[in-house]
Amino acid sequence: MIEDIVQQYDKFAKTFVEGTDTHNAISRKEYYTMLIDIAMKGKTILDVGCGDGYDIKLFEQQGAHCYGIDASNELVRLASDNTQANIITGNMEHLPYEDQTFDLVVSKYALQASTKVPQVLAEMDRVLKPGGTMAYLAVHPLRQFLEKKKHPKDYFTQEIVTSVFFGGTVSAHEPTHTMNEYLNPEFLSKYRITHFSEHGDFPSSEKVNGDTYPCFFVLKAIKQ
Ligand SMILES: C[S@@+](CC[C@H](N)C(=O)[O-])C[C@H]1O[C@@H](n2cnc3c(N)ncnc32)[C@H](O)[C@@H]1O
Repeated sequence: MIEDIVQQYDKFAKTFVEGTDTHNAISRKEYYTMLIDIAMKGKTILDVGCGDGYDIKLFEQQGAHCYGIDASNELVRLASDNTQANIITGNMEHLPYEDQTFDLVVSKYALQASTKVPQVLAEMDRVLKPGGTMAYLAVHPLRQFLEKKKHPKDYFTQEIVTSVFFGGTVSAHEPTHTMNEYLNPEFLSKYRITHFSEHGDFPSSEKVNGDTYPCFFVLKAIKQ
């Protein structure tokens, strides 16, 4: 599974880097607005599924010490060129960092690529310091439900779906998830959610069946 995901990102790394600025304008705004009240200066930050390091560069400009991990060698190479951060190739399901290392653990548009979201969240929790902040943006489970092709659709069974985004220029195969995988009991027992919102993103993504629905959600939470 991870090999398939990586291969697709390696393959469209260039398109992704060139297109993300224009196509992801809505989701970027929501994500950065959520992060705006976090003082980055001097903080140690991990970006999970960091892609080409676009976000890390912004965090560095605000004085953060940054780390990034991504499964795509090609994107890690670009991120290493783009930033001063410590960027490594790896799998977010097994983060190669010590417990309680980071003040802030963030992720944008990456968590849904794993078949094991609760495990990834548990790993992000493990490496986050108590009192630290976890913040992420992920593809909305409702969008993934609508992308299911089998009939009748089953929200609760994981399936690989094809998401069309970047105005139709890129499509990615990703496993579907339920909202309960993100808001799972272990996560809820340890975190105080301070921000949650869901949004459409139609200019950049396919409007499935012409329906109106949330394409992504953003969440920010403090580790108790
Ligand atoms: C849509 S891109 C988002 C990149 C970046 N966060 C951004 O917002 O521009 C998803 C990223 O997740 C990475 N990814 C997918 N599965 C992964 C895994 N299991 N471990 C680490 N990274 C993964 C991909 O290589 C890709 O760079």
